[in-house]
Amino acid sequence: MGEVFTFDHPLIQHKLTLLRSKETGPKEFRELADEISTLMAYEVTRDMPIREVEIETPIQTMKANKIAGKKLGIVPILRAGLGMLDGVLKLIPTAKVGHIGLYRDPDTLEPVEYYCKLPTDINERDLIVVDPMLATGGSASAALQFIKDRNPRGIKFMCLVAAPEGIERVQKDHPDVDIFTAAVDEKLNDHAYIVPGLGDAGDRLYGTK
Ligand code: URA
Repeated sequence: MGEVFTFDHPLIQHKLTLLRSKETGPKEFRELADEISTLMAYEVTRDMPIREVEIETPIQTMKANKIAGKKLGIVPILRAGLGMLDGVLKLIPTAKVGHIGLYRDPDTLEPVEYYCKLPTDINERDLIVVDPMLATGGSASAALQFIKDRNPRGIKFMCLVAAPEGIERVQKDHPDVDIFTAAVDEKLNDHAYIVPGLGDAGDRLYGTK
């Protein structure tokens, strides 16, 4: 079963509170989503392997640590996932970026992939899939499956707010994927919005509504 990591750091909690408030407009919302994503990326990458190298400081040579050449990729789920991309890239600027977009078929209600462009060396990369809201988990689970079909080395899922229903779904469908979320909220409402949540993340990021 994949683990769920939540974030009790005061800065993340403070910024999340501002993000949730309906008084927060798109400019500030984008800035906050970006900052929270950067802070979360610090923890999401905690298990990256390091290796010892020898360097010279101005004083003497020493053995020091560097990241052990681990290849990462970041995959935002379109469109709201884009609001987390730059924040993660700030900490991992050499990561490659893939994109995946899904829509729900109006007849079958099944998620359909309409866009997927991933790094060509995906089988050598560990991916961080990002989407701000893990609600029913339907599109996250489908996106993870479409991505897994291309054989990445590993996958983590990172969101800002998760509902228990979404966590359960991803854990059931993808027991190998750890979930990182700034908060776990109470439930979903009848329209599959997270309660109390923050509304529609895509609309709030881009001022569409
Ligand atoms: N997607 C959103 O943007 N918000 C929700 O509350 C649920 C899904």
